[in-house]
Amino acid sequence: MSSHSVALNAGLQMPLLGLGTYKLCGPADVYQAVDAALAAGYRSFDSAAVYRNEADLGKALRELLPKHGLTREDVFITSKLGPKDQGVKAMDGALHSLSQLDLEYIDLYLIHWPGTQGLQVADDRNPGNRAQSWASLEELHGQGKLRAIGVSNYTPAHMKALMQSCKVPPAVLQVEFHPRLCQPELRSLCKEFGVCFQAYSSLGKGELLTDPVILEVAKNSKRTPAQVLLRWAVQQGVPVLPKSSNPERILRNAEVFDFALSDPDMDRLSALDCGQRFCWDPSEVA
Ligand code: A2P
Repeated sequence: MSSHSVALNAGLQMPLLGLGTYKLCGPADVYQAVDAALAAGYRSFDSAAVYRNEADLGKALRELLPKHGLTREDVFITSKLGPKDQGVKAMDGALHSLSQLDLEYIDLYLIHWPGTQGLQVADDRNPGNRAQSWASLEELHGQGKLRAIGVSNYTPAHMKALMQSCKVPPAVLQVEFHPRLCQPELRSLCKEFGVCFQAYSSLGKGELLTDPVILEVAKNSKRTPAQVLLRWAVQQGVPVLPKSSNPERILRNAEVFDFALSDPDMDRLSALDCGQRFCWDPSEVA
């Protein structure tokens, strides 16, 4: 595993850089992106049941790892339980991810969303379903099928409830994180609980790439806006998952470990925090 990694409380290392695969669909596109990513040094791939690309990712890795002189142990694979499988169906959902990926173990498996598909966000069955999903993940973790387990899109309230009831603490919380959404409360909770805070949508779905402050910092540091946004996170020790289907951008997005942003530039970016989300807001989920 690359030296640019973080230690998880489950006892394994997770790379600071991974390829996000949301919207990457179809065997040819997945193969092309994974090939470009492995060549560029990515050793972590983030999928999910709802992305419908687990089977394509598994197949691409089986074909491409030997080509790049790598083995299963050299890569870190993340997937996530779909909201339709939250609750009693969680065990089957996680086992389905394993069979789709065709792996003996998944490095990190997350509850994708605090809610349950088909229930209203305020439905008071949501907490029980989450707890039941967590118990299933704990069981599969105990069997070695899920090396680390965690959650995504949890709010501070969801995190606190989980920390009070769990037998195995979550290794990771994966949430939207970028200069306009710095998530201070979740970050300090993660620090207090020993949970790795991981970013998704570091580029704000691409919309932050035209932010005037980002453009200025990029120009001054002779880097692309995407590299500045990704560097801002990894320089704080926050793992990132940039997603791109374009081989050139996949390569450039990986070039974030050979430069540093100055403290004033880091502060300028962090001062953009205004709580703006480009993705889903879980705050109403009971
Ligand atoms: P593409 O797949 O065509 O590269 P986020 O991770 O914040 O959701 O952003 C992902 C979006 O940003 C995708 O639409 C992706 O499109 C685009 N993207 C990823 N990397 C870059 C880059 N280096 N420059 C411009 N757009 C990018």
